[in-house]
Amino acid sequence: MKKTLCIQTAIILSLMAFPLAGIAQTKVVVHADAPGAKIDKAIYGHFAEHLGHCIYGGIYVGENSDIPNIKGFRTDVVTALKDLSVPLVRWPGGCFADTYHWMDGIGPKSGRPSIINVHWGGVTEDNSFGTHEFLDFCELIGADAYVNLNVGSGTVREAAEWVEYVTSSNESPMTNLRKKNGREKPWNVKYWAVGNETWGCGGNMRPEYYADIYRNYASFMRAPGIYKIASGANVEDYKWTEVMMREATRMMNGLSLHYYTVPFNWGNKGSATDFNESVWFTTLQKTLKMDTLVTKHSAIMDKYDPKKKVGLLVDEWGTWYNVEPGTNPGFLYQQSTMRDALVAGINLNIFNNHADRVRMSNIAQMINVLQSVILTKEKEMVLTPTYYVFKMYKVHQDATMLPVDLKCDKYTLDSQSVDAVNCSASVKEGVLSITLCNLDPNKSQQVSFELPGFNGTKVTGKVVTADKMNAYNDFGKKDEVSLADFKNVKFTNGKIEAVLPSKSVVLIQVRN
Ligand code: AHR
Repeated sequence: MKKTLCIQTAIILSLMAFPLAGIAQTKVVVHADAPGAKIDKAIYGHFAEHLGHCIYGGIYVGENSDIPNIKGFRTDVVTALKDLSVPLVRWPGGCFADTYHWMDGIGPKSGRPSIINVHWGGVTEDNSFGTHEFLDFCELIGADAYVNLNVGSGTVREAAEWVEYVTSSNESPMTNLRKKNGREKPWNVKYWAVGNETWGCGGNMRPEYYADIYRNYASFMRAPGIYKIASGANVEDYKWTEVMMREATRMMNGLSLHYYTVPFNWGNKGSATDFNESVWFTTLQKTLKMDTLVTKHSAIMDKYDPKKKVGLLVDEWGTWYNVEPGTNPGFLYQQSTMRDALVAGINLNIFNNHADRVRMSNIAQMINVLQSVILTKEKEMVLTPTYYVFKMYKVHQDATMLPVDLKCDKYTLDSQSVDAVNCSASVKEGVLSITLCNLDPNKSQQVSFELPGFNGTKVTGKVVTADKMNAYNDFGKKDEVSLADFKNVKFTNGKIEAVLPSKSVVLIQVRN
């Protein structure tokens, strides 16, 4: 293992000194002279649903647990999330949101009813994690809250009262109830969604019908400055976006989009850890589809909203595999490998590049569900490769997007090709940051950079890479994938050059 690493390092160093014909050549021009939109930090948002062990066991263990906790929230998880600068958390679902009655989750815990989680495993949960716990958790990790209202089985009144209970500082039955439950001051919750996947688990509606429902709910969500979000399209359902924009643009601040990377199909989604290069290729190729989806949905939005007032919010994305063998199929628990690091890096680059319209995204999900950044097992915690990509990319939060021209080789397998390199760039406080993904699991990429409009000579970097495509971090074992300093980047004779290792996600930062 050590020997392999030494050989790899020697090859990389020699390639840096003497670029060879066999190594792929990439040219990246970052236009600091033509800055784009602000990359809303909410693009780095997360999604936490009452599903499997995301909330119970992942975030919340209760104050009496022997797992170290702060008011019931796992201390290890809180620390890891703070380190990630999580800007935003969406809750309580997902499909769960349209079955959730928020009043079940307030007041003394002993008086809260237990309910059956009908979507996810049919398990009974005791409602010990409700509105106060969610908002306290967000305050603890320094994140904004995004609450998804119940449309499918709820009422306009229930939704309006939830908004009032949380946000109002006036005297009212709802605010008195909040105070009685221990919270004097309102919370500052900006983001509110009207239902989830209303084309599916949220009510199986047609867009024409939902557009009216949305307008009805939105009329009664009365709180100054809140950001109202309509349930948006599933993948390439462009008609959904068309109808929603045609009928409800003036009443919405954001419209969502859901797209998951599923390597095979919904019947057999494939294993999270046991896959070959062909499945690696397909997974990344399907991830790149996000760019087409965002481009086409944005074009429809442009027609009705040329000033781009309404944000396109990709509030569910990530990989979806078969559950880990032996786990509850309704809990959606999966491992996360180097492949997932690439999926995260590519998606986040796409969102950065579309920052003029994409104002939020939420990885599904934060802990123990689908493409998690954290896995927990009893007292233990593991940070996944995806966690390290989020840690690397946090430099883009609230930075200014810089357009990139990219010329690169193709990564080809079985007569199919994709661009071998994917990237995005931004500038903040005089530091220019470029994040690059090398999709090729076998070839390094020699990259030369031009930065018109930016003067900088100090270059540093970070990398997430691994020996194997399916390397992952597991309980009780040394991490196989983590964040390391990246040394294969140099500023010489006025030029920046780097060699990206095969299957890697890399950050390069330039400053004066
Ligand atoms: O993230 C898991 C589920 O996927 C969500 O509950 C739902 O919105 C989507 O179908």
